[in-house]
Amino acid sequence: MSFDIKTHIRAIHDYPKPGIVFRDITPLLADGVAFQQTIMQLAERYRPLQLTRVVGIEARGFIFGTALAYALGVGFVPLRKPGKLPGSTLEQRYQLEYGEDALQMHDDALTADDRVIIIDDLLATGGTVLAAVDLVRQTQAELLECAFVISLTDLPGPSRLQRAKIPYYTLCEF
Ligand code: PRP
Ligand code: ADE
Repeated sequence: MSFDIKTHIRAIHDYPKPGIVFRDITPLLADGVAFQQTIMQLAERYRPLQLTRVVGIEARGFIFGTALAYALGVGFVPLRKPGKLPGSTLEQRYQLEYGEDALQMHDDALTADDRVIIIDDLLATGGTVLAAVDLVRQTQAELLECAFVISLTDLPGPSRLQRAKIPYYTLCEF
């Protein structure tokens, strides 16, 4: 498939703070063919793995995660920012490239019988996805891989995942 996903991602300089190059996925989402190709590429990789759930990180991970779960015909588990989930939750705090936050997951969302991937739009410092990995591990579900549309190779996320021996897959790098 000759599809150059990077041409659909826009760089916005000094957002949300001076010095940050924000990788904006809205052009990719606005192009129906490019969005479909993105999800098809992910679905081809994950269809053989017999996942039971896709775990997606709020907010941009929901966009790709729900589309992928739908394409695979499996369920979707949202990891949400604090105070958004109505049931009993597990929580993990983390540092961002530009701030601090936390993720929560319903404590009954996954069981030891589940085979999952975690998906987000972008890997930067790795703080968000490492918090997501901690949440999934608390449930005993089998975590096969973390998936990203974009990885930022000048930030510590890729090497933090490698050091922690957490397999990951990315559709493109900047
Ligand atoms: C962004 C992005 C990832 C995370 C990556 O989310 O969508 O979730 O940052 O950064 P990290 O690897 O340094 O943790 P953000 O918290 O900005 O939230 P949003 O998706 O709600 O915009
Ligand atoms: N999340 C964290 N860092 C980011 C960046 N540089 N661009 C878009 N989303 C981000």
